[in-house]
Amino acid sequence: TREEKLKRINESIRAFPDFPTKGILFRDICPILKDPKSLTAVIDLFEDYVRQKHQDVDLIVGLDARGFLFGPLLAQRLGIGFVLVRKKGKLPGPTVSVAYDLEYGKAEAEIQEDAVAPGQKVLLIDDLLATGGTLNAACALLKKQQADIVGCVVVVELKDLNGADKIKPHTVFSLVQY
Ligand code: PRP
Ligand code: ADE
Repeated sequence: TREEKLKRINESIRAFPDFPTKGILFRDICPILKDPKSLTAVIDLFEDYVRQKHQDVDLIVGLDARGFLFGPLLAQRLGIGFVLVRKKGKLPGPTVSVAYDLEYGKAEAEIQEDAVAPGQKVLLIDDLLATGGTLNAACALLKKQQADIVGCVVVVELKDLNGADKIKPHTVFSLVQY
């Protein structure tokens, strides 16, 4: 059941205080990947959500690096393509980029110019929503590409940081909240 799947996922997330810097409680999703049942549960629940709410999505867009762990699995389940948003300097050919802040630093995100066609319906995926800086930057990139953003999905949402407000009017669906 959905409850059993959520329980299994919850039990596969660890917390590390003061990583990568003092004051940050780092939510580690690595045990999810080590446990096939837990990983399947994540993809099952994302698939259920997309099939119920966003039947018309054309592409899954995953965020560097931990969005790459879940995005291609979800895209394959749905029978659609996967596109990468990477940290600056990693993608060949013409790219579009944007700078942003995250919970513990700064970064710059990039997408290949031809990755998404105008009007394509895209769903963004990442492992975790903290301040929303990363997902917000990715939304900005996709807007430049004139993509139609249908929403975002994450495994973990850190509610206290109000990341969901930052990416409004787009919606975030999360499996686990702290
Ligand atoms: C982490 C996480 C999210 C982002 C969330 O990635 O995987 O992408 O931070 O934080 P925010 O909501 O405050 O932007 P990070 O940039 O540390 O990179 P990684 O995935 O390469 O480890
Ligand atoms: N990315 C940003 N904040 C994070 C946190 N607290 N745990 C794991 N990944 C993060």
